[in-house]
Amino acid sequence: MKLKHLLLCCLFAAVGCTTATTTPDNEIDRKVEELLAQMTLREKIGQMNQVSGGANLCDWAASGDLGSILNCVDPAEINAVQRAAVEQSRLGIPVLVSRDVIHGFRTIFPIPLGMAATFDPAVVEQGARIAAVEATASGVRWTFSPMLDIARDPRWGRVAEGSGEDTYLDVQMGVAMVKGYQGDDYADPTSMAACVKHFVGYGAAEGGRDYNTTMISERALRNVYFPAFKACIDAGALTLMTSFNDVDGLPSTGNSWLLDDILRKEWGFDGMVVTDWNSAGEMIAHGYAEDLKHSAELAVNAGVDMDMMSFGFIEHIEELINEGKIEMQTIDNAVRNILRLKFRLGLFENPYVDEAKAREKVYAPEHLEAAKQCAVESAILLQNNNNVLPLTDAKRILVTGPMANAQFDQLGTWAFDGEEAYTVTPLMALRDDYDVVYEPGLTYSRDTNKAGIPAAVRAAAGVDAVVVCVGEEAILSGEAHCLSQLNLQGAQSELIAELNKTGKPIVVVVIAGRPLTIERDLAECDAMLYSFHPGTMGGEAIADLITGRAVPSGKTPMTFLRDAGQAPFYYNHPMTGRPNNGTETLLNDIPLKAGQTSLGCTSYYLDTGYGPLFPFGYGLSYTTFDYSCITIDKTEYTEGDVIVVEYDLTNSGKVDATEVAQLYVRDLVGSVVRPVKELKGFERVYLKAGETKHCRFELPVAELAFWNRDMEYVVEPGKFQLWVAGDSASGEALAFEVK
Ligand code: GLC
Repeated sequence: MKLKHLLLCCLFAAVGCTTATTTPDNEIDRKVEELLAQMTLREKIGQMNQVSGGANLCDWAASGDLGSILNCVDPAEINAVQRAAVEQSRLGIPVLVSRDVIHGFRTIFPIPLGMAATFDPAVVEQGARIAAVEATASGVRWTFSPMLDIARDPRWGRVAEGSGEDTYLDVQMGVAMVKGYQGDDYADPTSMAACVKHFVGYGAAEGGRDYNTTMISERALRNVYFPAFKACIDAGALTLMTSFNDVDGLPSTGNSWLLDDILRKEWGFDGMVVTDWNSAGEMIAHGYAEDLKHSAELAVNAGVDMDMMSFGFIEHIEELINEGKIEMQTIDNAVRNILRLKFRLGLFENPYVDEAKAREKVYAPEHLEAAKQCAVESAILLQNNNNVLPLTDAKRILVTGPMANAQFDQLGTWAFDGEEAYTVTPLMALRDDYDVVYEPGLTYSRDTNKAGIPAAVRAAAGVDAVVVCVGEEAILSGEAHCLSQLNLQGAQSELIAELNKTGKPIVVVVIAGRPLTIERDLAECDAMLYSFHPGTMGGEAIADLITGRAVPSGKTPMTFLRDAGQAPFYYNHPMTGRPNNGTETLLNDIPLKAGQTSLGCTSYYLDTGYGPLFPFGYGLSYTTFDYSCITIDKTEYTEGDVIVVEYDLTNSGKVDATEVAQLYVRDLVGSVVRPVKELKGFERVYLKAGETKHCRFELPVAELAFWNRDMEYVVEPGKFQLWVAGDSASGEALAFEVK
């Protein structure tokens, strides 16, 4: 270690041990300025360069040309790169180690769409905290999560990674993850910097086809896509990632309105902005940059601090400075953001990871239990004819289907560091509860070879019930994995239909990365449990739900479609001038030679009608819940008021269970057309069988604000409606007015 660096470390350490656990920002800013003043231009540019795992990372680090690495999770390799940076480079600035820790590190939780289905921010925050404890023990101090992209089109493979279609739910889940990852003290060795992504509008890709162009108005950005980013930044998110897509012709990575006007000037973000993988260089393909040098100029001047894998910064910024195309002040500000992050994380005081303890907490019993609880709460009961579930009378069951024992695929997308050997599958777990006959029927989700189906059908003859586990291999969702059709792949539907012919009770468990179009499969089974890739402990969670040890409470975080052709479809849509009115004439009911306007003129499809298969917020239980005595404290409010909504919730069935009660509001008339409904609150209410609880929501009128015709964030006076219900399509409206 260089003498100068040693002295610096001693100085920082000395200062560090006398300051509070979280060094105050003015102290950090002083350190940043001191260090910045010593840096050459080359060293500054080096901090702006992020490189993915590879053999020569130590060379990059020793030369000072490396600010961060990604895709290294071996603690010894990480320490080697860190030693090269700290002990060989001139100023010894530690590198920031990053990884896509998206829904767990080793202990894999349900994919984020599944975590959203819990409607339980506390269980999601706990999951993020556990992910941070496991990942930081390997040396990772920065995760590229939470993904906040609002998703209204299940054809897009990355719906798996987000919190679905609703802005309010997106906010709750994103903030929970930021808090879980970062903890209370950024310098705590288990604190992992969060990265809110992908800024912005990535989920609105036309056609649900990844990376595709988006056309989103400023008003829609502000009302739908921005809120979760703003909320997470207000909650302390330390970094942000730009998105691959363009918004109305401007690639986000080169959009100064987004990265400077909104992010820095309007929101006061003082964290660090990183590009997505080569998203700077991809502005050439967009036709927005002439070449790599131009892309670096555009990205840096737009407000990007760190370049992930385009190498445009390290190769061209020096020329661009010399040509006056980039101001030194811009570089200094970018490097300030990077150094501030490293000081906040305590990297200068603790650059190394303790290799001996890397796996000490991995798969700790409390981690596995938390992952199981999250998987239990994330499962959605979509159908339960004749109360087939829970299977309390069955002794001998057939377990079948390509997802029944899929240890790798059950982990879902972005489970880089999950280890399939630790996955508990439904087959493994159900063997502890029943006399199980196992016949896969199909070997993987895309399998079209039906040769295994007869054996499964024959095996069904001798059992009390059948559990069919179908869905998607992990690779069928996630980045760049989009589908134009959403039916179960391969011969899975045939497997279900053939088993249904046996007359046995059929329970279908869908393990997938997105809402699939499963209407035809619902007709061929008694019960369906939907489990978005539930992770390491998914099998135990599913067994708990099938046996009745646990009761389903999950709710759909995205609308389930009847057909992919209905996409994009989302509950909180604006009303059209010709809304469907439920009297639409469907394809097979149209008379011959029907006159042009004889079917009426409303917004629907001749083949599928209008409605979805299941609405947002939907999910059954093993009991029933009744909402009654729903009241609001006034019928007229002013902006400073809080609307007090009270209601009684009764568990009118025979089992103790949890309901996710939801609060929706509609602004009937606005200076711009408004959504027909918006989620404004939810709460998980546990009720014993027969119990009634008096519950309440408190909704500040200020939370009815939106960006209006004049692009002002205001509550517009007028008439509103409000619902308290168990999903977005139920309940009776209450009227109130804002004066
Ligand atoms: C990927 C993804 C992004 C991820 C990054 C690093 O392309 O778009 O979400 O964090 O590259 O792996």
